[in-house]
Amino acid sequence: MIEPCTFIIFGATGNLSQNKLLPALYHLEQARRLPPGMVIVGFGRREWSDGQWQSEVSELLKTRVRGKLDQDILTSFRNRLRFFHGDLADAAAYQRLKQTLDDSRFPDSKVFYMAIRPAEYGMVSQNLANADLHEEDGGWRRLVVEKPFGYDLESAQTLEEQLHRHFSEQQIYRIDHYLGKGTVQNVLVFRFANILLEPLWNRNYIDHVQITHSETQGIGGRAEYYDGAGALRDMLQSHLLQMLTLVAMEPPPSMDAESLRDEKVKVLKSIRPIPQSAVHAHAFRAQYARGAVDGRKAAGYLEEKGVAPNSSTESYAALKLYIDNWRWRNVPFYVRTGKRLAHATSYIAIRFKHAPQLLFRETVTEPIRPNWILLGIQPEECLRVEIQTKLPGLKMHARTVSLDASYRQEFEAQLDAYEALLLDVIEGDHSLFLRYDEVRWAWRVVDPILKTWAMERDFIHTYPAGSWGPTEANRLFEREYQCWRNELSIEGEVVEGAVCVY
Ligand code: BG6
Repeated sequence: MIEPCTFIIFGATGNLSQNKLLPALYHLEQARRLPPGMVIVGFGRREWSDGQWQSEVSELLKTRVRGKLDQDILTSFRNRLRFFHGDLADAAAYQRLKQTLDDSRFPDSKVFYMAIRPAEYGMVSQNLANADLHEEDGGWRRLVVEKPFGYDLESAQTLEEQLHRHFSEQQIYRIDHYLGKGTVQNVLVFRFANILLEPLWNRNYIDHVQITHSETQGIGGRAEYYDGAGALRDMLQSHLLQMLTLVAMEPPPSMDAESLRDEKVKVLKSIRPIPQSAVHAHAFRAQYARGAVDGRKAAGYLEEKGVAPNSSTESYAALKLYIDNWRWRNVPFYVRTGKRLAHATSYIAIRFKHAPQLLFRETVTEPIRPNWILLGIQPEECLRVEIQTKLPGLKMHARTVSLDASYRQEFEAQLDAYEALLLDVIEGDHSLFLRYDEVRWAWRVVDPILKTWAMERDFIHTYPAGSWGPTEANRLFEREYQCWRNELSIEGEVVEGAVCVY
C-alpha cells in the first residue's frame, strides 16, 4: 500500500500543470493508483477558493483526458484538490503554507513539484527551507524539478548547490519526461531481454545511428522561455541525449536506479568532447522562416509573439557525436530536433553495414539495401527490422521486408509519460530520474556548442516552416551515402531531386 502524501504543485495554473500533471494525476485516479487520503495542492497567484480551482480543473480535464471524463472518478479527484493562494517570491506565503499543511487533513509526507520557470527553482527551495517545509519531521519530503536543469554547465552546478543546501540527493527527482515514455523504456527491454542483438550491437556491424525528434508546432506562447533556451537546451541536452544513452549503454548489472544511471553516465563521459574549433563540423543550427505546415500558413520564428526581432535562437539543432569506447568508436550518432518541421515524429534509426561481400550485385537491378532497426517512439510506436529477401519470380531480385514487433496492440492502454513518472515520485523510485552527474556530463557535451553559438549572433540558417530543415544540415554526414531518414516506412524519399535510398 502506498503511503498517502500531500502533492504541492508550484505553478498550478501554468501550461505544464494543466496539460500534463493534472491529466496524469486524473488518469492515476482512474487506474486507482493514487493512495487514499492523498491531497493535491495547487500553489498559484490567483485568488481562488478550493471550489473555483476544482471547477477550473474539471473544465480543463474535459479536453485533456483519454476518452470521456468519468463523473465518479472526477468526483473523487476533485475531492483531493485544494488551492493555496501565494506568490513564489513571497517568503511569508511559505509560512502560511506551512501552517495550512500542518493541519491533519494534509498527509505529512510531501511532494513539492516545480512546474515553474527553471530560474525560480533555487528561490523556491530556499523559501521552502526558510519555512522549515523541507524538514522531514513527520513524513518524507520530495522535490521534483523539470528540465532544463540549469542553463549551461556552470549554472547547473550553481543550481545543484542551491538545492543541496536543503535537500539530499534522495529527496531530489530531476525529471526528463522522455524516460517515462513506454517506447523509450522499450529500448532497454529490446536490447537486454533479447540475446539476438547483442553480438551485432557495436562498431563491427553498425554504420551509424540516427535519433530524430521533429515537431510541426512552433513555440506557441512559450517565447519567454524558448527564446532564451533554443532547441539544443530544450530538447537535445536532455531528452535526445537520454535516448542516446539507452541505445549505447552497456548492460547494467541490475535494473536498480544506481546501476542503470551508472551505465548511462559512462556513455555520456565517453562522448568525444567537441572543441570550440570543431563546433561547425559537429553541430548545425537553424531557425524556421515563414512557410506552410499541413497545408496551413505558418509564421516565421522571428514573427512569433515575444521573440526578439534579431534573435539568433535556434529552433532546429543537429549534432554528430562519437562515443569513444570499445563498442562504439568511430560510429557516428546523428541527433536532431526541430520545431515547425514536416512531420511530428520521434524515432531511433540504426543503420547496419553492408554484408562483407555483395554476392547479388550482378544479378539484382536495385542496389542491395542495408539492414535497419527502427524504434518508433511517437506517434508511431514501432519496433522494426528491415531485411532483404528474394522477390518471388524467375529473376534474382531482392526487396526490403520489414519484421514488425510493434510495441502496443490496439486494445492495450496508451499511457502518458507523466503518469509513470508521477507514480514513481509518490512511490519513491528514482530509476527513471536523472542523477546530477548525468546532467553535468550532458551539459559538458553541449557547452562548447552553446558558447560558440552565443558568440556568433549575426547569422543563422533558416528553413521554411513545414520542411525537413535546411539541406546544409547534411554537411554533418561523414559519408556520401548517409542521409537523414525522414520516414519509418521502407520507401526511400526524394531529397532535392536525388533519391535518398535507405
Ligand atoms: C519539452 C520541450 O520538454 O518536450 C518542448 O520543452 C517539447 O519544447 C516537448 O515540445 C516534446 O515532448 P513530447 O512528449 O511532446 O515529445
